[in-house]
Amino acid sequence: MSEHVLIEHSGGVLTLTLNRPDKKNALTQAMYGAMAEAINAAQQDNQIRAVVIQGSDSCFTSGNDVGDFVNSPRSDTKSPVYHFLRAICHAEKPLIAAVNGPAVGVGTTMLLHCDLVFVADNARLKMPFVNLGLCPEAGSSFLLPRLLGHLRAAELLLLGEELSGQRATEIGLANHALPAGSAVLQAAQDAARRISELPPGSVKLTKQLIKKGVAQVAEQTMDAEGAHFTELLGSADAREALTAFIEKRKPVFASQ
Ligand code: COA
Repeated sequence: MSEHVLIEHSGGVLTLTLNRPDKKNALTQAMYGAMAEAINAAQQDNQIRAVVIQGSDSCFTSGNDVGDFVNSPRSDTKSPVYHFLRAICHAEKPLIAAVNGPAVGVGTTMLLHCDLVFVADNARLKMPFVNLGLCPEAGSSFLLPRLLGHLRAAELLLLGEELSGQRATEIGLANHALPAGSAVLQAAQDAARRISELPPGSVKLTKQLIKKGVAQVAEQTMDAEGAHFTELLGSADAREALTAFIEKRKPVFASQ
């Protein structure tokens, strides 16, 4: 378990709250591990009908901890991040996300595995994998074009363009954009509570039918992405980009 993920079960809803405010909720291996364990356990627990993943009323997550990327670059199938991604990919119970402020990297790609996504209208979603010398992860190279079409997915993944919560809702990456702050967290809780009052067998079957075939391809994609990602983490470009972030300077990429 991790002190940086608060886990609360109330009225059929399991809420996972990212709680590392001094690092903008950057995700460590311990945090991925705690979330994977909680989501997997929820699948076997009849008392839990829906899972909410949220940050605070001002920050969802700045993505993977950049220091971890540099010092302990793990993304193989035994790594906590892989367990987390597999857990959200195969979760049978509805996953609901509440996003305020930044949702960087896996902060955005994890939303592709959720069933309902509530965002602040001024939330900042971004997948700067290429900018960091890396490549898409979490099955996003399959899920994003499937959801948005090739051109929009390419713009977000190749250029690492940031988009607002308002825009994310317009293009189908989120369900509802709301005023920033507690309204977003409340909307996710309200939806989860509504789901918890529905017939659980029907909810489970409906999610299964909607996602039929998707999880398998997403996982295969994730495996392929993971192999490239791990290799790229050791590349000179990625090390320069990540070190530059830590040193708070602009990266300088050597010519090929
Ligand atoms: N990993 C580790 N530390 C991080 C982090 C991350 N992903 N994101 C932010 N932090 C740390 C900063 O280093 C800073 O630490 P310090 O106070 O010890 O210097 C602190 O969190 C606050 O971050 P800061 O950048 O000052 O906040 P901001 O409000 O100006 O910007 C973000 C917020 C999220 C937009 C910005 O921090 C950011 O772009 N983070 C990097 C995201 C990233 O590249 N993630 C990996 C994606 S694959």
